[in-house]
Order: sequence, then C-alpha cells, then structure tokens
Amino acid sequence: MKNKTKNDKLDPKFKHFMLQEIYAQPQAAMEAVTHYLSPENQEKAIAGIALDEKHLRELERVVILASGTSRHAGMVGEFMIERLARLPVDVDFASQYCYRDPLAEPNGLAVLLSQSGTTADTLLALYEAKAKGARTIAICNVEDAPLAREADGVLYTHAGKEIAVAATKSFTAQLTALFALGVHLGHTRRTLTTHETREHLDSLMQLPEKIEAALGCGELTHKCAVSMKDATSFLFLGRDISYPIALEGALKLKETSYIHAEGMPTGEMKHGPNAMVDERMPVVMLLTRNAMDAGSNLRWEKSMVLLEQVAARGVHVNAVACMEDAEAVAKHAAMVFAVPSAPALLLPVLEIIPLQLLAYHIAVLRGVNVDKPRNLSKSVTVE
Ligand code: G6P
Repeated sequence: MKNKTKNDKLDPKFKHFMLQEIYAQPQAAMEAVTHYLSPENQEKAIAGIALDEKHLRELERVVILASGTSRHAGMVGEFMIERLARLPVDVDFASQYCYRDPLAEPNGLAVLLSQSGTTADTLLALYEAKAKGARTIAICNVEDAPLAREADGVLYTHAGKEIAVAATKSFTAQLTALFALGVHLGHTRRTLTTHETREHLDSLMQLPEKIEAALGCGELTHKCAVSMKDATSFLFLGRDISYPIALEGALKLKETSYIHAEGMPTGEMKHGPNAMVDERMPVVMLLTRNAMDAGSNLRWEKSMVLLEQVAARGVHVNAVACMEDAEAVAKHAAMVFAVPSAPALLLPVLEIIPLQLLAYHIAVLRGVNVDKPRNLSKSVTVE
C-alpha cells in the first residue's frame, strides 16, 4: 500500500484538507474494499491477514486498544466482531491498558488500531499485549509504520495520506477494515455460513456508493452549522452500535470548534443528562435503522419516543436518519440529515458523515484553522 502523493495536494474545489478528506471517503472505502476482496477470495473476507487459521479458531477473546478517534472505531468494531464471530471483545484506551497489568492472553488477539501507526500510547499497549502472550494485529493507515512492523499481522486501511489533524477518511476506513476482520473471523470460526459471509461481503461492496449518497447532506449541515455555531455545549446521542458514533461526533466538534460536546448512549438520557438539556443545548440524535432487522427496529422505536419527549420540551434536536424515515423523524427534529439504509453493522459508517460535515462547517464559521486546531497534532509520539 502506498499513500499516493495526490493526497498531499489541496484540490481547488475544497477550502481545506478536512473537507477534501471527508469527500474522499467513497474513494477511500472503495480502495479498502478492493484490497480486502479479490474475486478469487470471495469466501475468505480478507486477503493476507497473516494470522494462522488454527489460532483464529482457538481464540477466546479479543481486546481492541487505541487512542482518540481510533478508539471510537474500535468501539464500533466491538459490536461487529461480537455479532459476526461471537467472540467476547473488550475495548480499552491504549493509555490505560499499558498501566493496568492486564491478565495473560494466551488465546487472545489484541487488535491495535492507529491511523498513523506511531502513537506512543498505542505502541506501548502493543508491547504490553505481546508481553501478556496475545497475538497481535495492527490496523494502520501508514505503510511500514512502527505499529505495523511490530505487530504479528497487519491490515492496512488504504485511506491514502490524511493531512487534517481531525481524522475523517481514516476513521471510516478503519470501520471498513474492522467489518472485514469480523467477517473473516466469523467465516474462519464457522459462526457465519458461506451464504452469510457472501451476503456480508456484498454489503461491504455497496458501501462506497452509500457513503457517496450520505455526502448529499453537505448543504443541510452547513445550514445547521449557521444556526448552531454560537452554542456553547452539544449533546450527541446514539444507541447500541451508534453510541461510539455519538462519541466520535462529539470529539470532532471538540477538536475542530473548541465547543464542549459530549456523547452519551441514548438509553442513558433518563439517568442524568435529561436534567441539563434545555433549549440552549442542541442535541444531535442518531436515528438510523435497518428495517429488515428486528433488533434495529426496536432500538429505533425506543429512540423515537425519546426524541418526541425531548423535542416537546423545546430542545433543539437534529437527527441523522435513514432516507425512508426522514419524514417521520422530521415531525419532531429540527433538521434531519438523511443517509441510505444499510445492514445494521454498517450504519455507523454512514452516520458519521453528517457529523464530520457539521463539525467542519461550525469550525470554519467560528474562524478556527480547521486543518490544524490548537494544541493538537496528527501524530502523538510521546506519552
Ligand atoms: C491524536 C490526534 C487524534 C487521533 C489520535 C490517535 O490525539 O489528535 O485525532 O485520533 O491521536 O491517532 P492514531 O494515529 O493513533 O489513530
């Protein structure tokens, strides 16, 4: 994998690298999907994962270790791997894991996620996992980065060079890689039939087109940003696999706009946050679903009840919903960012798109140097 030079140049169509990278996501996902799925390898999910099948069959546990945005991708990966491969998964902050004297992992797999592959905390977590006997795999965007070199196996995310400090295309590429890894584990461990494996891989192939459609909400996110730019605090809510996307939406806003924002599980609203939310605090709710999936429908219905209650109190709620549900959601939400429907495990990839755009537009309207926010750097090589 080579990070192509053209990613270093700002296309005059875009004002900033962050925006260029947000719009590069369909192409980045296509690149990843093409690498993972060769036509001859339809059943294996991933070409060249470099971990032996016997070990993958004997696995008892997976631990995902990462920092910042990469950890949010890992939290989505937890749902993907548990549901596809029926393996218990834990996700930890890399900076916490390396100091907590974790249990030995003789039949464990540690997945280290990092865009740069140079994050000091994540490298230390890799050494700790190895010391505890786990096999390790790095999911990394930069070829031959230290993390990629030192792990037992590597899965590149193929997103191309990312310049803006706030990760966008590398995040969706990580989600694509984690889904492919989950399918691979499920197939190898026979928790997925050949037919199910094929169906999941077909869904993966349709992802770039769906990301393209999700980018259609660009103008509406700008309009929303104009009306929200002076807010001092935001709350992002997501249920189940959408919860990490609520965290990532909040992080994007904090990093680029310097606005306080929190991500919470939707079901926790009644356990505290309800008290602080009022008309001065905008809420962004993640309300996508896959109508063919009973669990996804149930979660959606519960979240819709909450939307109705919160909106009735005069709170300004914006929502991300599937195109088919946009009208129903718009009865209560101020604005609805519509994305295509997809299998439940892939909806997070679409949900994050409007949140990235919203953070970008708010930052620009507030005059922030969006590609290089203060006090942050793209690669944190010290603890
Ligand atoms: C820094 C950046 C974050 C990034 C994190 C992890 O804190 O500011 O945007 O998510 O590092 O980076 P990595 O390269 O390991 O994914």
